[in-house]
Amino acid sequence: MLTFAERGRGPALVFLHAYPLDSSMWRAQIEFFSNRYRVITPDIIGFGGSQPAAQWTMAQMGDELAALLDRLGIERCTLAGLSMGGYISLPFALSHPRRVERLVLAHTRARADLETERTARNAMIDELKNAGTATLPEKMLPRLLGPDASEEVRGFVRASIERTTAEADIHAVTAMRDREDQTARLPGLLCPTLVVAGSGDAILKVEDSQTMAEAIPRGEFVVIPRTGHLSNLEDPMAFNGALDEFLRRSDSE
Ligand code: MLT
Repeated sequence: MLTFAERGRGPALVFLHAYPLDSSMWRAQIEFFSNRYRVITPDIIGFGGSQPAAQWTMAQMGDELAALLDRLGIERCTLAGLSMGGYISLPFALSHPRRVERLVLAHTRARADLETERTARNAMIDELKNAGTATLPEKMLPRLLGPDASEEVRGFVRASIERTTAEADIHAVTAMRDREDQTARLPGLLCPTLVVAGSGDAILKVEDSQTMAEAIPRGEFVVIPRTGHLSNLEDPMAFNGALDEFLRRSDSE
C-alpha cells in the first residue's frame, strides 16, 4: 500500500516522484498548487513512508496507484510523473484513459532502456548488492542536478538519496531496467499532455523529449532553461509556471 501526503481541495493533482527520491521532492508544487487543487504525492514502494521495500514493476505500481485513487474516492485526476514517476504515469494513463484527465511527463521517456543502459543498470545493481548505498550520492548528484542548482537543493537531494536503502534502490533500478517500451502507444494517448524537459538534463536529451511530445496527439512541449533532471526542484518558479499555464489552458478548453 502506498503512503502519500495530501493538501488542498479541488480537482485531484497527483505527483509521482523520481529515483532515488521520495514524495518530499514535490514540496514547492504542494505549496503552489494546493490553493486550487487537491494535491496528492504518493511514495513509490520502498521510498519515503511506503515501507517495507519489495519487488515491483511499472504495471504493478500503476495498480497501486489505481488502488490509492480508489481509496481516496478519486475517479479522475491530473497525473504528473517525473522521470521514474513518468515511467509509471505513461503506461497508467494509456491503460486507464478514463482516470487521467491530463498528463504531465517531466524528464522522462517512452522508450525502454537501450542495451548499454541495461548494462549500466546491472552494474549499479551489483554495486548496491556488494557495497550498499555508499557511493550513490556521488554517482547520482551530477546526473540529477544541473550546474546552476543551489547548494540548498543539492543538500536536499543528497539527504533524500542518503535516506534510501540498498534494497529499495535495487528494486527500483530493476523495475526501470525491465520497463516496457511505450513508444508505439503514444499516438493512442488522447488526453492533453505536457512534456517537460530541462535544458541541461544529463540523463535525457531535449530533442528526445520534443520527439515524444510530437508523437502525442495533444502533446505540448516546454523546456525549463538552466535546469538539469529535476527542474521542479532546481527552478520551482519556472516549473510551476509552465505547469500552471498548461492547467489553465486545458481548463478553458
Ligand atoms: C529518475 O530520475 O527517476 C531516474 O534516474 C531515471 C532513470 O534512471 O532512468
